[in-house]
Amino acid sequence: MSIWHLAGGRPLRGSVRLQGSKNAVLPVIAASLLCPNETELINCPRLSDVDAAVDILRYLGCAAEQDGDTLHIDTLAPDRCDIPRKLMHRMRSSVIFLGPMLARFGEAQVSVPGGCELGQRPIDLHLKALESLGAEIREEEDSIVCRAGKLRGAEISLTLPSVGATENAMIAACAAEGKSVIYNAAREPEIETLQAYLRALGAEVSGAGSPVICITGFSPRRAAGLRVPPDRIAAATYLACTVCAGGEVRLSDAVSEHLRPVIAAFEKMGCAVSAARDEIHIASHGRPGTPGAVVTRPYPGFPTDAAPLVMAACLRSRGSAVFIENIFESRFRHADEMLRLGADIACRGPLALVTGVETLRGADLASPDLRGGAALVAAALGAEGESRITDAGHIRRGYDRLDENLRALGADIWCE
Ligand code: UD1
Repeated sequence: MSIWHLAGGRPLRGSVRLQGSKNAVLPVIAASLLCPNETELINCPRLSDVDAAVDILRYLGCAAEQDGDTLHIDTLAPDRCDIPRKLMHRMRSSVIFLGPMLARFGEAQVSVPGGCELGQRPIDLHLKALESLGAEIREEEDSIVCRAGKLRGAEISLTLPSVGATENAMIAACAAEGKSVIYNAAREPEIETLQAYLRALGAEVSGAGSPVICITGFSPRRAAGLRVPPDRIAAATYLACTVCAGGEVRLSDAVSEHLRPVIAAFEKMGCAVSAARDEIHIASHGRPGTPGAVVTRPYPGFPTDAAPLVMAACLRSRGSAVFIENIFESRFRHADEMLRLGADIACRGPLALVTGVETLRGADLASPDLRGGAALVAAALGAEGESRITDAGHIRRGYDRLDENLRALGADIWCE
């Protein structure tokens, strides 16, 4: 078990170059299965979720090797079309392999994906989208079997703008005969990255970033490349850590445009944030103000993944903030852990009321999930004395060297 130790009370100073985006790279790795090709992904973060995706590719008979920040993938000769439970359960994003496998092999057998730590996470929209394209789907106790003689272009209307279902539908539609249109598609920046990669593979895709995505054709190419864009949630994490610990930090290789509601929340808290096109600078000293209400919504709204991080930054604020979670049912599992630091948080269903306290004190904490774990790191940086975070393996799912980067900024943090 991975354990992190932190001693709070040291301001952060310096700059961090952001890692590549986890949520952008995972669907791209899955999409590489779509046709026989060699793909090179630059700025690929080193994460246990990327390792899990690579292990799935290897199980399927493909080659994949990460060399520093570059991931080389060779999907020329896969030799099977099933993913066993052990691999599916390592991360929720394993479900994004369903569309590409169906497109490439005409069939796919997977078990139900893991990663249910944020509450119920159904995959009905993924399956309905694939059915619209002509797949026959049989759900058994723990497995899903999909078959399609030939995928046919279709109009797919998502009842929710699900990021994962949009990605699965986009990838599978590339292999379908005729035009496909996805309505009420997710508009997250990661969808635009997937579109860029699918185009590099030879697909005619347009509309990513808007609610309507069209896929009109595919002339497969043997080689493709992509630079993974910076991780907007990692950016939110370093901003929150700076507010918790106090100090001044510059984030380079950041797309501030993708972080508008998060930056607005920190500005409302009285932090000095200056955002250029590809960097963000934040300065925060003493107890911050409050952002008022933080209401999570699909992009371009406030991202659910950043809510725990802004909550950490509010623990010592002067005033109260209310968090309203509209995407996942169990987003506040870190709140009980924050209470151990002396925080004042009252949760009821999708609401959390945080009233800032003057002082937090270090405590033994357990990381409940990826973003909740990162939020505990931020909170502990603002607490007096030592904290110990167990189950910190969750943090490595999505953060590339968070501990090293924070240490370089002056934090007192070490890992067992
Ligand atoms: C992705 C992100 C995750 C982020 C989330 C919302 C990745 C790897 N993960 O997750 O970090 O928090 O978007 O921005 O990119 N839903 C259904 N049926 C479905 C699919 C989803 O009801 O078939 C519901 C979910 O339960 C949830 C909502 O739709 O309430 C949004 O989920 P979705 O956008 O699909 O999230 P993910 O793609 O799993």
